[in-house]
Amino acid sequence: MEKPTYHILLCQSFRAKGEPKGVCHKKSSGLAGYVEEQILDRGLDALLTTTSCLKQCDNGPVMVIYPQNVWYGGVESEDAVDAILDAMEEGGVAEDFAL
Ligand code: FES
Repeated sequence: MEKPTYHILLCQSFRAKGEPKGVCHKKSSGLAGYVEEQILDRGLDALLTTTSCLKQCDNGPVMVIYPQNVWYGGVESEDAVDAILDAMEEGGVAEDFAL
């Protein structure tokens, strides 16, 4: 497999030991599937990884776009994901959600 152009991290509050804690998994239920759909629908060369706590719980749910290293918070809706992916495709930043 070729290395993807974009790596999208979506916090799902995983913990090394025990149940998920934090807000991200509670407030972003179903969004991982939506991001995957959007990657396919938009034909993006991107890989989605769901992650453990990214230590930004107060700003959750958190999504990070690499290689730009742009961190987003409050990613609670499909509209938020759309705005972030639109900005990613345009080479910009979705300022409404940027941390
Ligand atoms: S649970 Fe997502 S940043 Fe902590």
